[in-house]
Amino acid sequence: MDDFVRSMFAQRHEQVLSIARERSSGNTVLRVGTTKGEYILRLCGEALRHRDREEILGEILLLQRLDAAGIPVPRPCALDGGHIVTVGRSNGILYPALPGSALARPVPKHCFAAGQVLGKIHQATAGFCFSYPRKSWGLAHATDKAKELEPYFLADDFLKRHAVPQRILALLGSMPEFSTPSGVLHEDFGVRHVLFKDDIISGVIDWDRSYEGALILDIGQAIRGWCFEGSVLSLERLQRFLAGYALERRMQLSEKDFLCRAMQFAFAERAISFALLSIQGYLDQKQRALESVEIAERLTDMQTQVINLCVSAGAR
Ligand SMILES: Nc1ncnc2c1ncn2[C@@H]1O[C@H](COP(=O)(O)OP(=O)(O)OP(=O)(O)O)[C@@H](O)[C@H]1O
Ligand SMILES: [Mg+2]
Repeated sequence: MDDFVRSMFAQRHEQVLSIARERSSGNTVLRVGTTKGEYILRLCGEALRHRDREEILGEILLLQRLDAAGIPVPRPCALDGGHIVTVGRSNGILYPALPGSALARPVPKHCFAAGQVLGKIHQATAGFCFSYPRKSWGLAHATDKAKELEPYFLADDFLKRHAVPQRILALLGSMPEFSTPSGVLHEDFGVRHVLFKDDIISGVIDWDRSYEGALILDIGQAIRGWCFEGSVLSLERLQRFLAGYALERRMQLSEKDFLCRAMQFAFAERAISFALLSIQGYLDQKQRALESVEIAERLTDMQTQVINLCVSAGAR
């Protein structure tokens, strides 16, 4: 891999000074220092993480649209033959590293900034259609995945004892059709994918799972990441997040009714990922799978408070 990186940069007349691996849960993400600056080379992984060239192209076109709207996103480098990097079976993108870093401990003012940039993203991508196929990560996908994995989850004593697979399926089965406005979703707009420099957002990274769907699902996933203190929803953070969002995009009344459900969906969807990781040997993830289910279930009682906050943040 290092030789490949050196020869790629040699074609750009840049000499590689350092190559370091960034933390990733299954892709290859390299930070490359050269005589001209710092870059990130992100290549897809295997199986579920594999992305074909068309999917990467869809992501590149989206990044260009967001960049044109003034949102700080990675800017794919033009290389010989296009913007896609292919190494063996892995496809990916090279871009200059964005400044800043993800926050260890966001406080409410950061929730406001995050909400605002998400609103801006949703607003900037109105009418955007992926011209290349993308995987979808919505309710149908999560339900299929939960059903497919149920027997494997049930083979695990802990997950079985706490009825984790059945509870995930019950949650997903109780979801309404999210027939609210659709658009482009980041899908994983959590704390680790938003970079800050001096309290200003300097980058929104990892558009790997972006897809077209109900925007409210993106808001729900984002709130999961930004507005919980441990397992408890912070109404102050949620209020700040929604106020930031409303500055850029006004939620519709139909969306406010679905927000709590979208948050439940976000936790149910995460519970599947944690349970999967746990049966793949990451045993510490079992507890997180159970906690995610419990949080999702408890959120049922928060429906009225969440609606009221949406209304006071300006949902029409
Ligand atoms: N454009 C960028 N600018 C600066 N740093 C970046 C950029 N892209 C990625 N990184 C760094 O690389 C890390 C991993 O990136 P990314 O989230 O895209 O990969 P991933 O495979 O999805 O990892 P994970 O599964 O942990 O989310 C980020 O947390 C960040 O530290
Ligand atoms: Mg990531």
